[in-house]
Amino acid sequence: MTAAIYFSPTFTSKKGAVAIGKALADDGCITEIDVTRYDRVTEKTQFDRKDLVVFGAPVYGGRLYRGCKERFRKFSGNQTPCVITVTYGNRHYDDALLELFDLVKEQGFVPVAGAALIGQHTYGEIQVGRPDEDDLKEDREFAARVKEKLVLGEILETVPGNRPYIKGEEGGKGGNFRPLTAETCMSCGLCVKECPEGAIAEDCRTIDGNRCIACFRCIRICPVQAKNMNVAPYLEFAEMFTKKLSEPMKNEYFL
Ligand SMILES: Cc1cc2nc3c(=O)[nH]c(=O)nc-3n(C[C@H](O)[C@H](O)[C@H](O)COP(=O)(O)O)c2cc1C
Ligand code: SF4
Ligand code: SF4
Repeated sequence: MTAAIYFSPTFTSKKGAVAIGKALADDGCITEIDVTRYDRVTEKTQFDRKDLVVFGAPVYGGRLYRGCKERFRKFSGNQTPCVITVTYGNRHYDDALLELFDLVKEQGFVPVAGAALIGQHTYGEIQVGRPDEDDLKEDREFAARVKEKLVLGEILETVPGNRPYIKGEEGGKGGNFRPLTAETCMSCGLCVKECPEGAIAEDCRTIDGNRCIACFRCIRICPVQAKNMNVAPYLEFAEMFTKKLSEPMKNEYFL
């Protein structure tokens, strides 16, 4: 079985992991295991040598989000080959790919290749629409090279990053913004159901500030744009941040 296991609140990490998985699978068919929701129950958690897994996760503060690590730790391999991918918003991935490299090895997987991919940043208007068709084409070309490596039985020796990871125990947290809900909310319940951390109460408006990780999934998926961040401090930050990260960066692949 070829599987893509991903945590992806705003769907960019998912796109890379799925594109690579599909290009790796002989018949183009993969099993998608979306662990974005904290309470997602997955049927398959054990993989063997004949399986192939692509992991996908976003970079949060140069690290893997700690809740994503918890979710990934539910899976174990038995010398199962895997491809590790992190997706980041055009600033940097710092130690996140190395953190994923270390985590999958602890879980019994064998990294064969890795990638640090560009995705639209959660905040501001940075690299909007990425990964785009060109990015996904690069992902598929990378997968073709991974296939060759799999045939040769070669593994990935290491990836960029440092240990101890930046920000130590403090790393891998979410952000500090807390979305607002406008009058236009029609109480459809979509954001309640889709919030990765179950932070939105049944009234569709009250957000538990301790659970919210500022992933902005609720803002992206709200069909009437009721969930929002239309407050001056955020808008000022977003404008500054967008200018700062305007120079597009390239996807990096490690074989
Ligand atoms: C809390 C938080 C922290 C982030 N930290 C970084 C970072 O350190 N470097 C970076 O380039 N992008 C950073 N981003 C942007 C995300 O990595 C990027 O938007 C990614 O594509 C989101 O993945 P997803 O669509 O799968 O949720 C951060 C986003 C959030 C929400
Ligand atoms: S998704 Fe939007 S409209 Fe639906 S409950 Fe949430 S905020 Fe309201
Ligand atoms: S309430 Fe917070 S954690 Fe939940 S989807 Fe919205 S931004 Fe993400």
